[in-house]
Amino acid sequence: MAMRLILLGPPGAGKGTQAKLLSARRGIPQISTGDILRQAVADGTPLGKEAKGYMDRGALVPDEVVIGLIRERLGQPDSAKGYILDGFPRTVVQAQALDAMLRAMGTPLHHVVAVHVEEEALVERISGRRTCGQCQRPYHVRFHFPKTEGVCDACGGALLQRDDDREETVRRRLSVYRQQTEPLLAYYKGAGLLKEMAGEGKIEEIAAQIDRVISNAR
Ligand code: AP5
Repeated sequence: MAMRLILLGPPGAGKGTQAKLLSARRGIPQISTGDILRQAVADGTPLGKEAKGYMDRGALVPDEVVIGLIRERLGQPDSAKGYILDGFPRTVVQAQALDAMLRAMGTPLHHVVAVHVEEEALVERISGRRTCGQCQRPYHVRFHFPKTEGVCDACGGALLQRDDDREETVRRRLSVYRQQTEPLLAYYKGAGLLKEMAGEGKIEEIAAQIDRVISNAR
């Protein structure tokens, strides 16, 4: 049975890490607007050129741009078996647009899993993050290292520091999260979809907790 799920949480909460693990466990795609936008920046496409300025200063890319990306992505065949949305929606406008899209498609959401992590832990996670330049898999200099230093386990790509992972940009991203994305907790609570959990602990323990949360809720 298809499972459609949102992973919600601040920058550094572990959305990307957990979405990749869950995607492998359940055989459904991870759809990350951040990954799609970074790929567009790397490819130098018009979308990438438009998005780069917003991303580098820790601001959100305009709603209509990311809503268009998601509309196109959800129309692709692999989305029929379900998906994990990572980093979308991030504003109430985006959430309302997603609701309208899913209503029109007759494919409602099953879960919104919100992962909570203290701010200082977020900053530590992000400042030590290294990301694969090819497949975007995240690693960490203290908490999650690859088998060979500087090389992605999954695809052999080089591990790099993201341009928006400098401390002052991270603080800005956290403040944008509080102002523009946190209201989604109440939005999805009101819709009866919200499951909240603590995101601190070992990566495998968090993964098991996510499985419990979504299994108990169905
Ligand atoms: P995006 O790529 O979505 O970034 P983000 O939400 O800021 O989230 P992060 O990727 O920083 O963190 P994460 O929660 O995925 O954590 P991760 O698993 O990597 O967005 C980037 C930018 O794109 C935005 O600022 C915006 O400009 C634009 N954008 C994207 N979507 C948009 C939208 N919908 N609307 C408008 N603009 C949009 O983990 C972090 C680190 O911690 C890693 O090093 C990892 O190894 C480590 N780690 C993970 N779990 C643990 C653990 N349990 N213990 C210790 N370390 C851990």
